[in-house]
Amino acid sequence: YTVLIVVFVLAYLLGSVPFGLVICRAFGLGDIRQIGSKNIGATNVLRTGNKLAAFLTLVLDAGKGAIAVAVAWALVGPRAAEVAGFGAFLGHCYPIYLNFKGGKGVATYLGTVLALAWPVGLAVCGTWIATALVTRISSLSALVAALAAPVWAWVAGREEFAVLLVLMAILIFLRHRPNIERLVKGEEPRIGKKP
Ligand code: G3P
Repeated sequence: YTVLIVVFVLAYLLGSVPFGLVICRAFGLGDIRQIGSKNIGATNVLRTGNKLAAFLTLVLDAGKGAIAVAVAWALVGPRAAEVAGFGAFLGHCYPIYLNFKGGKGVATYLGTVLALAWPVGLAVCGTWIATALVTRISSLSALVAALAAPVWAWVAGREEFAVLLVLMAILIFLRHRPNIERLVKGEEPRIGKKP
């Protein structure tokens, strides 16, 4: 178990790196925690109007999940890869460097699931994209994709992921509480618009 704890801690520290915050500062866009929804994720970075900054945030936040999984898998094994993915995801949501006030986990979740089981990951990304095309709402797309993920894992014959996917879905819903309140009131902004 010691090796799994080490894997978890290292993945958590990597997942804690808030790329949205770093990139917005590097691009001179200010503190993303003062803009729009105040979230550090790619959806909110897009509200600055800088598409490249938003794209980089998405890729790097997803990448830190995928890299944590890939490295743990190569060095230790598949069980450690799941632990690493969950560690990176928790790091993004509750980062040690930002007093545990982090993001909503969606990009890191997508990167993690893609690296753990790419057919499931593609189905989850497809669900996000399909929902976004219809509704143009990022948070709703994430909630629908997170709900669908355990079903896709089951369809793909990867039921062993169900526990992890349900756990991450619960955390994604918890992190989206303000979004859910806005969705219920019909006040959640479309992608690119400010709340
Ligand atoms: O990935 C986060 C997204 O689901 C919601 O972001 O900024 O609209 O709260 P935001």
